Amino acid sequence: MAEEYGIYIDGEWVDSSSDERFDVTNPANGEVLARFPQGTREDVQRAIEVAKKTFDKWRRTPPARRGEVILRAGQILRERKEDLGKLLARENGKVLSEARGEVQEAIDFFEYIAGEGRRLLGETVATELPDKFAMTVRVPIGVAGLITPWNFPIAIPSWKIGAALVSGCTAVFKPATGTPILGAQLVSVLAEAGLPPGVLNMVTGAGSVVGDEIINSPVVRVISFTGGVDTGKTVYRCGAQRLANVGLELGGKNPTILMDDADQDLAMEGVLFAAFGTAGQRCTACSRLIIHKKIYDEFLDDLIEETEALKVGDPLDPSVDVGPVKGKDQEEKILQYIHIGKEEGARLRCGGEKLTGGGYDLGTFIKPTIFEGKPEMRIAKEEIFGPVLTVLEARNYNEAVEIANDVEYGLSSSIYTQDVNLAFRAVQDIEAGITYINAPTIGAEVQLPFGGVKSTGTGAREAGTTAIEEFTEIKSVYVDYSGRLQKAQIDQ
Ligand code: UN1
Repeated sequence: MAEEYGIYIDGEWVDSSSDERFDVTNPANGEVLARFPQGTREDVQRAIEVAKKTFDKWRRTPPARRGEVILRAGQILRERKEDLGKLLARENGKVLSEARGEVQEAIDFFEYIAGEGRRLLGETVATELPDKFAMTVRVPIGVAGLITPWNFPIAIPSWKIGAALVSGCTAVFKPATGTPILGAQLVSVLAEAGLPPGVLNMVTGAGSVVGDEIINSPVVRVISFTGGVDTGKTVYRCGAQRLANVGLELGGKNPTILMDDADQDLAMEGVLFAAFGTAGQRCTACSRLIIHKKIYDEFLDDLIEETEALKVGDPLDPSVDVGPVKGKDQEEKILQYIHIGKEEGARLRCGGEKLTGGGYDLGTFIKPTIFEGKPEMRIAKEEIFGPVLTVLEARNYNEAVEIANDVEYGLSSSIYTQDVNLAFRAVQDIEAGITYINAPTIGAEVQLPFGGVKSTGTGAREAGTTAIEEFTEIKSVYVDYSGRLQKAQIDQ
């Protein structure tokens, strides 16, 4: 039985102003898991109004108290990890081990960011005048609009919600229409943990309505968006109209460079995990493998053999390596890119089609696919967001880095080499927000900043020590205790 959800406003699950609803389906078998309201502009306005009204009280709540709620929510998530992991695997399609890992990422982040409630550090700074004190303090920006994608339906919302709330912002949260169940679960857990009504509100529905209303509201002073580059540009433009703060995490075309001295067994495992884990549907997925020509043929032959051996199927089956892609739209887009790859003359080495017959017909499964391509091809430049890896050959390190950097994006990157000097050169040379040495492009930890350069994003980094920057402003404070007028720059 599909569960019926409402929208969450002022601490209550309520009906939308419209009766229209949409289904959330399991991409492995088409099962309808839940029905959610097709939110309206009016719903969003209500949510924003409540967030605005609640802001003053929340910003005055001591940050340590705000952090305690988030910590308690993290503990509840920990108790429910297994159930939420299963639900996530059914809603999103990622295999159970990865789904559990994603819930763990939300737990980790809540536990981590709760501690900010006892920091929210500013600086004390020397002043040029006697009997005067100077410092900076952090103040919450105000009402935050949080818009999240379907590929990490609990971890990414936890980054945005955790950082916004501990900072003292109130929020309107729009989870992706493909995966609102985990978003709703997260909201419920926060309520159980004692989050006061009105601090966090959730409205589900179309980006063109709910998202549009959030990003255009003059009350929403900070927008945090993770998703595709085209929508990201719209969000940025709308935020710019009223000079709102906008944080964007957009696409990736993440390279792995494999040097001739690499530990090839290690690299093999890493590439398989980064390219085909989560069916390639991570912003951080490895979608380009740049191999040194000396080991190109040998490594590629083995990689194809290993890729063909990956088991694709039901994400709840522990023997399965790769689950379905998220629904028909994703399937179509990925198959279209496979078609483009063939048309532009890339050499298809394995996969390249959907899986059919038996249980596969009920879901959306694509065979892990490898193309040998050229750097200028679209499949080597554009984000596919599926289990499609483009392999490229490089003559040497310099050429490999040139290829790695010759794309619009710059999120994650990786190099396999035993040469410590080369590894550090790569850290310096690769244009990306994240570089891994001898490790795959996926698997960022929550206590480090997460984000990218070039078209991957703008604004403060999420997670890590920088997470609160997105949701706070710095205020400089001068305290003059001399009892007389002192003039900076004039009194010497
Ligand atoms: C994403 O795909 O947008 O580093 C987030 C990783 C995960 C987060 C991915 N920790 O792969």
